[in-house]
This record gives sequence, structure tokens and C-alpha cells, in this order.
Amino acid sequence: MRDCADVLMDGLEQLEYRGYDSAGIAVFEKGVIRTVKTRGKLKCMAEKLADEGKPEGFCGIGHTRWATHGEPSDINSHPHSNGRVTIVHNGIIENYAELKEFLTEKGYSFVSRTDSEIVACLLDYYYAERDPLRAIMETVRELRGSYALGILFKDFPDRVYATRKGSPLIVGIGGSEYFIASDIPAFLKYTKNYALLDDDEIVAIDNSGVRFFDIHGIAVKKQTQTADWNIEQAQKCGFPHYMLKEIYEQPEVVVKTLDSIVTDGVPDFSDIGLTDELMRDVKRVFVVACGTAMYAGIVGRYAVEKMARVPVTVEIASEFRYMDPIVGEDDLVILVSQSGETADTIASLELAKSRGAKTLAVVNVKYSAIARNSDMYIHTLAGPEIAVASTKAYSVQIAVLYLIAFRFAYARGIILENEMRRLTAQLYKAPEAIRDVIENKDECQFIASQLVNVETLFFIGRGFDYALSLEGSLKLKEITYIHSEAYAAGELKHGTISLIERNIPVITVATQRNVLAKTVSNMEEVKARGATIIAICRKGTEFAEGTVDIKLELNIGGELDDMLLPLPTVCALQLIAYYTSVLRGIDPDKPRNLAKSVTTE
Ligand code: AGP
Repeated sequence: MRDCADVLMDGLEQLEYRGYDSAGIAVFEKGVIRTVKTRGKLKCMAEKLADEGKPEGFCGIGHTRWATHGEPSDINSHPHSNGRVTIVHNGIIENYAELKEFLTEKGYSFVSRTDSEIVACLLDYYYAERDPLRAIMETVRELRGSYALGILFKDFPDRVYATRKGSPLIVGIGGSEYFIASDIPAFLKYTKNYALLDDDEIVAIDNSGVRFFDIHGIAVKKQTQTADWNIEQAQKCGFPHYMLKEIYEQPEVVVKTLDSIVTDGVPDFSDIGLTDELMRDVKRVFVVACGTAMYAGIVGRYAVEKMARVPVTVEIASEFRYMDPIVGEDDLVILVSQSGETADTIASLELAKSRGAKTLAVVNVKYSAIARNSDMYIHTLAGPEIAVASTKAYSVQIAVLYLIAFRFAYARGIILENEMRRLTAQLYKAPEAIRDVIENKDECQFIASQLVNVETLFFIGRGFDYALSLEGSLKLKEITYIHSEAYAAGELKHGTISLIERNIPVITVATQRNVLAKTVSNMEEVKARGATIIAICRKGTEFAEGTVDIKLELNIGGELDDMLLPLPTVCALQLIAYYTSVLRGIDPDKPRNLAKSVTTE
């Protein structure tokens, strides 16, 4: 049997990309639970294990914590124990204050400042009859919020229980070994087979195997699924960082995603229920998402409105869920997400469903909550995205949104089949253009060398270029820590231009020919105030002498429709952010303060 501490440490390392500030494990060692935990990264854990001795055993739980309640500290790190129970918890217990009061009255005291410790106490409280299953069932009935829990009861050595609601948790099923994890890469080297838990289902794992129970404690059978990810996809494979590897993978994953949707040269969504009839009848489209996925939604909005003349609103999920949106049964709500586990996007999905809207998920992780709970689901095929900064997931999201735009336009009688076919063929040319940007990465490296010491910069653009400016600016901010803002080029003069002074870089995305002259005027305005202009444009775009300081020309041979240029252009912006990050001595894969999946509000 494998050494549990090693498997736990390795699994936690595979999920390091999700972001954390402390780590810990608990292992049954000769029938007794031994816990080792510490503030800091896994290397601190490894040092502590070396100092204190690694717990020896075959059964245990581990967790990397991203602090929400209580600062990162040894005490607040997981696992938490109280009474006879030891747990790890991913998520947030919203009613922890009232539960804490209840438990205090019952004589419990607490050592940490976390919401998670409350769960250990509550489990202990309901463990009065020494029935672990019952204790879990009673406990989860009391919990509000989100949780994925790994649980050890000290009276049941070498047995792990787990349950979940709102937070991801999957069960890896090997020959005679089992794993619980938030994501597949944690156990991919041991098995590709896994089973999913629905909300409040419980799994028990011990020497006799794995058993699943529903919320009432009734045994349930689970289908085993097989991951289509392989271990190479989840490794760096010679690249210095996951982010660079993922940028390089874009041409391939875009084609793969297109292939999964395009049949006989045209996009076809009928198998998931996104029929021409539905597209014809829909009155409005909402795209709801967070961060990069939301910026992909803005590209989608421009494409769908331009092509299909149907109104599209892009909403930030954390706003949508609380703004009492005017959304109903005539509307299509598209939830875009890499992880499929983003708390605000999940809540928006539930809200849209409760209002009778049709919901469509565009999600990269097929076992995720958003993918599973939407009416319709398009699986983007980016493969595992490990770097915190999303790159290839964005590209496949916009590729899918283009295909939706083409089919929408066809379904609503705005374009004929021939035009849909032509546009789809055009989209298949985009990966070549992305490849070209990657081949000419030196130019992005040069731009990065000019940005490495700046304190602030701006991105501007119009239309699709504005959508890209938002994404380029976010990418740069999150991995370089340079302050950056993105503006619609025409909006700058309504206030923000007062911030422009000598040598402030303004990265101008100027690929859209219909607004080029207007964008050029805006470049002139900032140039006149001393800005350094970095222009990203189609090859052969001419600017008046002295306007542009650095020009990055996209070599797309004039073939691609302007509407599709976000695909190669974003690659250039990603590379600029990546190289700037590296030059500043930052690890672009794990930027400070960020988590890969934002499973809390
Ligand atoms: C992307 O670089 C960011 N780290 C972040 O904005 C991310 O896109 C956002 O949190 C949404 O995540 P999701 O796609 O998994 O829903």
C-alpha cells in the first residue's frame, strides 16, 4: 500500500495552483490520528514533516487553506480536530457564528478562528450515538454555505468519510485504493477513474472499499467516469511555467474545441438542446461570469450582437446574483467558467433557473457544479488549466461564443448557411494566426522588457479591441502587480486622461479596421500628453510618424475577419504579461493573493 503522507503531499502539490497560504495533513498512524500542519507553502510543510517525522499510515486527509475566516496561521490551518473528529474543509460556513454560539452553550471551546472548526465540533456533538454516518447527516442539515469535507473519526481507524455541497469534491477510484480531491490532477497519476458526489451525498472509504450514501443514509450506486485528461497535460513538460505551456497549447485546444461542435463545416448544438428554434425564440441573451471568463463574454457579446442582432448583456456574476435582474423565460443565460465552480457564477445559474430562463454553461471542467446543473452544457476542451492566470480557457471560450454567434445569426435568418460555413472556416484559420504570434514571441519579450520597471500603464481599444484591452490589463495586473487600467479608447478623455503623463505606457489594441481612424485619434491624444504608445495591430497598419513608439504587428496575412482577431491578439497580450512577470522575478503560475477557483463569495 502507498504511504499516505506522501500521496497527500503529492496531491496537495498537484493542486498548489488553486492558491493557498497554509497546509496540513492528518493520518491514522497505528490507529491514532496524527496531525501536522503549518502556515506557509508546502515546502514549509515538508520541512515540518522532516523535523517532526512523517506520520506513517495508509489512510488520511490533507488540505491547503486559502484564508477566509481567521488569518493564515498554524492554528487556523487545516486539519481541525475537536473531540473525536478531525476534518478538512473547503468552502465557507455562512452560519458559523450562530453554530458557534450553540456549541459554546453545549460546552465546546475553540482553538482557531475558523468557520471550519465549528464543523468538527458539530460532528462531534452529533456523534453521541457513535454513528459516523448519522453524525454527518445531522451535521450537514445544520450547515449553510458551501463545503467539501474530508472527515476522520478517531474510533474508526483507517476510514475516511467525505461529503460536499457547493464546493467541488470527486472520488478517485483505483484498483484497491481510493482518493478524495477537489480536482482530478491530485490523483491522476494513480487513476483516471472517478465518481461524483451530488450535494450532501456521503462517501465512506476503508479497507473494505468505497460506499456511497444519499442524504438520508441510504446506500446509492455511483457510475464510474473516466477522465479524458492525461498526466502530461497536468505537468509542465519542459516549459518553465504552466502559464507558458498553456499559452502554447492554444492553437491545438481551439481546434479540438471547434471540432467537438462543428459538424459538416457548420456549428451544431442540437445535441445539447440549443436548437435553431430556441435561438430564434430567445428575446435576450445574458452572459454571466467572473474575471477572464466575463471578459470572454464581452467578446461574445460583440460577436452575437453583430452577427445575430439579438441584445446581449454581460453581467458580473457577483452583481447579477444580487441585483434582482430582469430575466425570465424568454431569455437565454450563458454561464461562462473555466472551473465551473466559481461561487458567484453558480449562484447566478441558480437564480436564472429560478426565474425560468434557459441556462447554457460554457465550462471547461465537465464534472463541475455549473456544467452539471445547467439546462445545456458545452464542454470547452482546453484540458486542465493549472496556471492561476487563465489563458487557453479564455481562447476556447471565445471560440465557442463565436460559433454560438454564427449559429444564432443563421437560426434567426440573418445569414445563410453558406455564410455560416464561410465564417466557421475562417475561425479554423485563427489557430494558425495564434501560432504565428507564439513564433514571434521575441517581440512580446521586447515589449515586456520595456514594461518591467513601470508603475502604471493603460490599455485602450474600441469594440473587440476594448474587450481585449480589459483582458490584457487583467492578465498583466494579476501576474506582474503593475497597476493597469483598461479603457474604451473614446472614454479616456472623459476623465482618465488626466492621469497620462510623460512616459506612461499606453498599450493600444488597434486591430479593428472599422474604428481604426477613431482609435488613432485617441492614440494621438495620449501621445500629445507624453505617453509611450505600444500599438498592437494588423500587419501593414500605418500610423503617422511619431505616433507609435513600439509596434507589434500581427501576421495574419489579411485573411482573418477582424471580428476573429481577438484570438491571436489575446495571445500577444498574454505573452507580454507572462514575460513581464518573469522579468520582475514573479512566479506567474502562482501570483500572490489569488486562488485558481474562487469557490467563496
Ligand atoms: C483569470 O486569469 C483569473 N484568475 C480569474 O479572473 C478567473 O477568470 C475568474 O475567477 C473566473 O474563474 P472561472 O472561469 O473558473 O469561473
